[in-house]
Amino acid sequence: MRELIKNSRNLHMYRIIYGLFRHIGLIDLESLRKKLLPKLKGKVLDIGVGDAGNYRYYSKGAKVTILDFEKKMLELAKKTVSDKKNYTFIHADAQDLSMLKKSSFDAVVVVFIYCCSVKDSVAALKEAKRVLKKNGRMIVIAHVLSKNWLIKLHQYVMEPFSRLVIGSDMTRDTKSDILNAGFKIVEEHTTGWTDVFKVFIAKRK
Ligand SMILES: C[S@@+](CC[C@H](N)C(=O)[O-])C[C@H]1O[C@@H](n2cnc3c(N)ncnc32)[C@H](O)[C@@H]1O
Repeated sequence: MRELIKNSRNLHMYRIIYGLFRHIGLIDLESLRKKLLPKLKGKVLDIGVGDAGNYRYYSKGAKVTILDFEKKMLELAKKTVSDKKNYTFIHADAQDLSMLKKSSFDAVVVVFIYCCSVKDSVAALKEAKRVLKKNGRMIVIAHVLSKNWLIKLHQYVMEPFSRLVIGSDMTRDTKSDILNAGFKIVEEHTTGWTDVFKVFIAKRK
């Protein structure tokens, strides 16, 4: 119960913070989901689902596997997903996807996980690469460490607060992690007026 309250509180804070970020023009998460997700076809793996914010943007034909290491978050996600026919829910850590077959997914979607909450993001990215088909695509929405010294300083100063309130790191170099895990980045977009919020589309090398 305490975990559920903690996770729900984190999720609540996450929604408030991203609502604020949208308001001040940093990132419009819903518009990004709407632009990127409906075109995904075949088998899709959604890692670190939260309360299934991506759900309403997947096409009806997609077969979506939803994965989270918090049972309570999966329960919340199950409540959100009303049409469960094309959905599978898996309780697992993103760093170990050994229950999933190699090269079995057409797309992997990861929204604010590798950049903030997974302990070893390169290990998790290597697992995503293993389960992704050769011609498949991984979509990562992430925040990264800014190159602007003032924003970077702000990120380092705010990190302890961010870890405490939403359990999130702010200073990771997710682009390097993606490359170090053996992906090739085919598209990179920056959203908003800073260089912090990014969309990476990557494929296996
Ligand atoms: C910021 S929320 C996710 C937001 C969600 N992807 C979205 O689209 O809004 C972080 C989620 O990742 C999950 N998570 C964190 N580390 C994980 C890991 N190592 N393996 C699987 N899930 C993880 C958390 O339980 C939580 O549900």
